[in-house]
Formats: sequence, structure tokens, C-alpha cells
Amino acid sequence: MTDTTVLHFGPDRIAVGAQIEELCESFPDLGNGAAAQAIRYSLLGAGKRIRAILLLSAYRAVGGRGDASALAAAVEVVHAYSLVHDDLPCMDDDDMRRGRPTTHRMFGPHVAAVAGVVMVPLAVRYTLSSARALGLPEQKCAVIVQELMRASGAGGMVGGQLLDLAAEARTLTLDELEWVHRAKTGRLIEAAVRVGGLAAGADRAELDALGRYGVALGLAFQIADDVLDATATTAELGKTAGRDAALKKSTYAVLLGIAGARHRAQSLADEACAALDGAGLLTDELEQIARFSVERKK
Ligand code: IPE
Ligand code: IPE
Ligand code: MG
Ligand code: MG
Ligand code: MG
Repeated sequence: MTDTTVLHFGPDRIAVGAQIEELCESFPDLGNGAAAQAIRYSLLGAGKRIRAILLLSAYRAVGGRGDASALAAAVEVVHAYSLVHDDLPCMDDDDMRRGRPTTHRMFGPHVAAVAGVVMVPLAVRYTLSSARALGLPEQKCAVIVQELMRASGAGGMVGGQLLDLAAEARTLTLDELEWVHRAKTGRLIEAAVRVGGLAAGADRAELDALGRYGVALGLAFQIADDVLDATATTAELGKTAGRDAALKKSTYAVLLGIAGARHRAQSLADEACAALDGAGLLTDELEQIARFSVERKK
């Protein structure tokens, strides 16, 4: 039986890593200044690449046969930017990420802040060129860029991050916390899955099922992150354990307890798989990712 505490997908990770390296070598307009170095540093860190793997697995589930690894890498650019900013002193003020110093610890907060901002237009251009390279029609390319940017904006990742910070030192209700988690983490995960479907030509019903999988999985993923912050060590995580308690964040681990949070994450993973099953899209790959998201050790 597959070990679901490990994210397999070695070939996908290698293909996406190669795309990210190529992007880092061929940045348009950026030159080799401090911001470019900080961007390379953040992109090349040892992330799990789960959003990219989700995109590729959704693409395959719908029957996509091209090489979507550059499009998958584009989602990781948005994600890496979100981490650079999440760690800044004015946000979670974290020193460690992916097993090494955070970007601002290496390059200073000004360079890290600018690097993060520059990664947004970089991600847009890279998403568009990657979608075009897959041979998709212009209209579809535009829809894909819009999907990714909408998930990253005020109603998604950035909006969720702002509320997350505003809520420090006060206790959110479970409904409020659910909104924060769905926005700050869930929306980008949902978008990764939907973009995989869009690129493979999913019809409306398939996209809807992929979206429901992504929504449930996105929340489950952040609940598991809350649990790991409270239960794992810094060495295991490659980022500072116990940071949420230190910052007095409301988390699922606090509101439901560790066992309650784990249980909620498991039922969301079930819900995610059921959404795909109903549409005939539940592949072994997408099921494995759902299980990994809640059983992972880092
Ligand atoms: C960390 O995401 C931030 C969250 C949204 C929980 P990941 O756990 O996917 O981080 P990397 O990419 O593997 O470092
Ligand atoms: C971050 O949530 C969500 C993002 C949008 C980056 P966390 O603040 O819990 O992520 P970690 O634990 O620092 O990776
Ligand atoms: Mg945070
Ligand atoms: Mg953080
Ligand atoms: Mg966390």
C-alpha cells in the first residue's frame, strides 16, 4: 500500500524543478541584482511542490496529454511569493523556511518585500507564456491567468493573509477562521486544480467537481498545517514550530483541539474525494494527494 505520509510524484517534481530552474536562468528584465537573487533563492527552495503536482494530476485526470510542467511551475511562483511575504517581520516574522533562513533573513526585508511584489507580474507573464506553449487558444489562456490571479487577490490569498494578521491576539469564531483559511490557503490550491482542468479542456461539470475537490482539500491542507505547527518540531518541518502559539493566532488546533482538528481535516479529505468520485474523476493520484494533505509529517 502507498505510504500517504509521503508525497511521491518524483517525475513531476523533477519536471517542475527543471522548469523553475530554467525560469530562474532566463528572467525577463530582471538582471542579476539583489531582487533577482532573492527571487531565485525563494523559488529554488526545497518546497513540496504540491500545488504544481495537483495541477498536473488534475490535468491528467481530465485526459490532458501535453507537458503542463511549466504551467504547474507558474503556480509555484505565486506560492513562493506568498511565503516570502508571509515570513516578513511585519507579517509572521519568521526566520526559517524550507530548512534554511527565510528570504528576508538572507537579503533583508526591503529586498524581500520588493522581490515578492516583482514575483506577481513575473507569475502572470510566465503563466501566460506557459499556457500558450501548451497550444491553448488565447481565450483559454486568459481564463487561466484570471483564475490564478483572482485566487491570489483580495478575495483570496492576500485578503486571507490580511485577516489572519488582523486576527492575531483575538479569538476567531470557527466560521471566521474557516473563512481565513479558505481564503489565504484554499483559494490558491483550488485554482491549481481548476487550472489543470482548464488546460486539459474540462467541461463545466468536470471543472465544478475539480473546484469542489480543491476547496475541500485547500481547507484540509491548512488545518493540517495548524496541527503540524503545534505538534511537530522545527527540524521536522524546516520552518519554526510553535509560531502560531507565539503569535497568538487562532488555529484549528486551538479551536477544535488536536484530535478535533485532525478529524475535521480527514472528513474534508473524504469530501474532496467524494466530489471527484461523483464526476468519475477520482484518480489514484488525486486520492493520494488528498490523503497526503492530511496525513503528512511536514
Ligand atoms: C506552506 O505551504 C504555507 C501554507 C499555505 C500552509 P506548503 O506546506 O505547501 O509549503 P512548501 O511549498 O512545501 O514549502
Ligand atoms: C500561510 O499560512 C498562508 C500563506 C498564504 C502563505 P501560515 O503562516 O500558517 O504558513 P506557514 O506555517 O508560515 O508556512
Ligand atoms: Mg501566516
Ligand atoms: Mg507563517
Ligand atoms: Mg502555519
